[in-house]
Amino acid sequence: MHISILGTGYVGLVTGACFAEFGLTVTCMDMDAARVEQLTKGHVPFYEPGLAELTTKGYKAGRLSFTTDFHHAVDTATVIFIAVGTPSRPDGSPDLSSVDGVARSIGQHMTGYKVVATKSTVPVGTATRVRDIITEQQTKPVAFDVASNPEFLREGSAINDFMRPDRVVIGTDSERATAILKELYRPLYLIETPFIVTNVQTAEMIKYASNAFLATKISFINEVANLCECVNADVQTVAKAMGLDKRIGAKFLHAGAGYGGSCLGKDAAALVHTGSHAGSAMPLAATTQQVNAQQRIRMVEKIRDTLHGVQGKTIALLGLSFKPNTDDVRDAPALVIAAHLLREGCTIRAYDPEGMEGACKAVPGLIGCNDAYDAMKGADAVVLATEWNQFRNLDLARMTALLRTPVMIDLRNVYDPERIAAHGIHYVSVGRPAAGANPFQPP
Ligand SMILES: NC(=O)c1ccc[n+]([C@@H]2O[C@H](COP(=O)([O-])OP(=O)(O)OC[C@H]3O[C@@H](n4cnc5c(N)ncnc54)[C@H](O)[C@@H]3O)[C@@H](O)[C@H]2O)c1
Repeated sequence: MHISILGTGYVGLVTGACFAEFGLTVTCMDMDAARVEQLTKGHVPFYEPGLAELTTKGYKAGRLSFTTDFHHAVDTATVIFIAVGTPSRPDGSPDLSSVDGVARSIGQHMTGYKVVATKSTVPVGTATRVRDIITEQQTKPVAFDVASNPEFLREGSAINDFMRPDRVVIGTDSERATAILKELYRPLYLIETPFIVTNVQTAEMIKYASNAFLATKISFINEVANLCECVNADVQTVAKAMGLDKRIGAKFLHAGAGYGGSCLGKDAAALVHTGSHAGSAMPLAATTQQVNAQQRIRMVEKIRDTLHGVQGKTIALLGLSFKPNTDDVRDAPALVIAAHLLREGCTIRAYDPEGMEGACKAVPGLIGCNDAYDAMKGADAVVLATEWNQFRNLDLARMTALLRTPVMIDLRNVYDPERIAAHGIHYVSVGRPAAGANPFQPP
């Protein structure tokens, strides 16, 4: 079967490369000509483990192709996935202009039956909106079905998430579309992946409810962490014990600098917006967002308090992407924290294994370094903001030799406080007691 993906970003390219691996013929379309040209030359425009190899494999096998041509993408495919961006507007509502744009193009170019499935995260009602736009744009009536097939992959482990998902959600009122979409995912049937087949509204809601719930878990444990700091408790032990309760689960209970990236915040905000429009307020999701924004500010305060002010100080900032194993710096907590510190007169020597280019563009004052140790040279403290594996086992002797003052502020609770303090380093983390003497503390 021939399918097309409109929008070849993180979701679109992973979807295309994985479906090609399933044996389908896939056309990935994007309006960004430079991106398409890069892809046809074998360059994946962002970092995602394993994606360059899978893309090259599909391309060389002739199952995966790239184009800027809407007509070609629409005309050749039986199933068209919409995977364009749906960023937040200032009021929290998702900007659906790209979805509307591709829907118009689908309507103008289709000449035979299609299943049009949204993979982009879109609010309830969007499938109906897509159906209306396509119908409006058709010059003569051609049959088609719309479906919602939300994507749950996580950047950094996207291929595995696509190939071995916890579930596949298909929302449509057409039996024909259901059968076609199930056929695409047949390899996942073989590994007994649960399929949720439902109506479009429910499928659209599943994605938002899932992301808002994950965001809530993170904000909840961060709130608990902040309380732990006031009462001398250890949030890591609290979270571990909570997570052993099967009703709660251990995932997304890591206290830290809060969530970031292009999805959780955007989707929680969109759910709040949908709620207010539908006359059913979502105060929990709204508060989750507030707690997350405050958590970033708390991290700035933590750094400021530890160093007794940051003006004139130098910080080695390790980790800039919103999470490890991606170069994506969209709404990255590390960058929000960095921007605050720079405004307060701090110098920041920064390093990230993959996110340097995007980070230095987004926050111009950063001094880009070659590696973690280069960043530490002459710094007053190390701040660990994103827990890349490279930062999990730093050479502590080398670190103390490079730093001006031996201070580590671990915003991801990667290290054992006593072990760091045993190396003569003052250690501060999130929701756990500090360890070692603070060189900035007056005697
Ligand atoms: N990134 C994730 O981890 C993730 C996970 C699940 C769901 N989602 C959702 O998937 C959607 C896409 O996210 P993403 O991170 O892949 O975005 P992205 O910004 O990486 O990619 C979007 C792509 O769409 C292209 N595009 C925009 N308008 C277009 C148009 N009119 N015609 C053709 N191409 C167009 C852009 O050039 C870009 O390449 C969003 O709705 C997002 O919420 C993202």
